[in-house]
Amino acid sequence: MSAVDGAAEGPPAARPAREGTRPRAGRWAVHLRLYSGLVLFVFVATHYLNHAAGMVSLDAMEAGGAAFKWVWRSLPGTVLLYGAVTVHVGLAIWATFARRTWRGITRGEALQILLGLAIVPLAISHVSATRGITEFWDFNDRYAYVLQALYLSGGWDGPLQLILLLVVWLHGCLGVHFWLRLRPWYPGAQLTLYTLAVLLPLAAILGYLHAGQEVGRLLADPVWRDTYRDSLNYAGPQVRDWVYGVNDATRAGAAIVLALALVGRYGWILLDLRRTRVTIRYPDNRTATVLPGSATVLEASREAGIPHASVCGGRGRCSTCRVKVIDGAEGLLPPSPDEVKVLRRVNAPPGVRLACQIRPRRDLLVHPLLPAGAQPSEARRRDRFATGQEIEICVLFADLRAFTQFSEKKLPYDVVFVANQYFRLMGAAVERADGRVDKFIGDGVMALFGLEEGAGGDAGCTAALRAAGYMAQALQQLNAGLGQDLDEPFRLGIGIHTGHAIVGEMGYGQAISVTAIGDTVNTASRLESASKELAAQLVVSAEVVARAGMPADRFTRTEIQVRGRSEPMAIYWLADATVLAEDAVPAGPPA
Ligand code: FES
Repeated sequence: MSAVDGAAEGPPAARPAREGTRPRAGRWAVHLRLYSGLVLFVFVATHYLNHAAGMVSLDAMEAGGAAFKWVWRSLPGTVLLYGAVTVHVGLAIWATFARRTWRGITRGEALQILLGLAIVPLAISHVSATRGITEFWDFNDRYAYVLQALYLSGGWDGPLQLILLLVVWLHGCLGVHFWLRLRPWYPGAQLTLYTLAVLLPLAAILGYLHAGQEVGRLLADPVWRDTYRDSLNYAGPQVRDWVYGVNDATRAGAAIVLALALVGRYGWILLDLRRTRVTIRYPDNRTATVLPGSATVLEASREAGIPHASVCGGRGRCSTCRVKVIDGAEGLLPPSPDEVKVLRRVNAPPGVRLACQIRPRRDLLVHPLLPAGAQPSEARRRDRFATGQEIEICVLFADLRAFTQFSEKKLPYDVVFVANQYFRLMGAAVERADGRVDKFIGDGVMALFGLEEGAGGDAGCTAALRAAGYMAQALQQLNAGLGQDLDEPFRLGIGIHTGHAIVGEMGYGQAISVTAIGDTVNTASRLESASKELAAQLVVSAEVVARAGMPADRFTRTEIQVRGRSEPMAIYWLADATVLAEDAVPAGPPA
């Protein structure tokens, strides 16, 4: 059972009598906001597709408009659409009200909020002058009318509606991006999605312009114009006055609600200031104070101006805010099933919690585990070695001899070409033997064997010896392919050792990978160095041969002094390791 499980099953911490009073929404609010946003995104995308039909003709646009209205103006469509608008706008206002601080907000989040704020004042004139007058004045808001009012009228309405089109689309695309960017497939699909995100509004604008010109031409025909005007069922100037009234009232209402949310927000902050607070301590003696249970650790970090990673903006999805709780964990409520799920996804070790999900009720000492600039990739499923394990593995080091002399005489292009051929062949040899290339160091290779769960040291040793054979064969292939280009053939020196090593994700930034450290690794490297002095292609420790169950008489045995060891070390070596390519199969029980 992991600590995550344990925490989930532990007793809830007692609530102190005077907790913070700040309002907060649960996971349901996050889900509702997402799903309502998706409904609106689909509505907008289908609306823009309808606009794009204008690139074909006005008739195509009108036909698409009829289908669009059939869906979105039906009873279920209306409930879905206006329900989504109500929920999405309501939750956005609530989020503004409940937000503790604007510190730590990313540029993308800030842009999305600003765009969102612009939508209601911009969109209301469009909604009131189309669906509004259709419902209340029995008007026919066909596309030709919209194009005449916006494209042909020559006022500000047309350009403003084009701005609205872009504002809504960008706001929605940012939301979809924030939602999907944690998915492992997203980086691969990003180019396609970006292309679609650019093409759809562009097609909508082109359709609008093209059909607008067509309406202009048609209006010059008196017969068409009269028929068109009759079709609108326009009830007179009172309709226009009604539209203006609705627009003004909606904009004023939106401004009042927003102002109330902001005033309420600062009111709560002032109330909070008069209460006793708990202290959250971070490394480097930084501290943040909050009312007990009133704020998450992430909110506290932001309020205190302490940089804290939060790719998903505190929605409990990305895991990048995770912290190791060093002291005070007993004062926290156990993780919710959603938090447990996210922590499991990243193989979080015991004592790790999501900073955006824990609300300290007592003093707490935490250690954020990721740098403040953590990327979405940190949120994806992690290797089982993400947090480090000590296991028994087999380590192989290989070094290409004569490559330095070769590179001194060749053009950089040739050197890179040959080096990449070598890396490809060696990488394939390691993988063919079920190993994992740890890294390429200059013209050297480090590979790990026996990492699979339950593989054990014996399987790792067998695989490493087989890999040495494949690598030796691959070197022959490389030398044969380069032929005349080489003054002398390349040679390979390989060292293999087995034992316990610490395996984990290590590195910095983009250069993080699963690697191994410890004496086993150092010894394997030194055996590779020893291969040079012995004029051997392969030097392996006696343990490797024994664990692989390989007949020892196939090798030459000797003892060498290895740096860092007081006693001589028994090793086996081969001048030509190609014989191991097929033979590195246990011939009997390990010695
Ligand atoms: S900020 Fe994403 S899980 Fe906490």
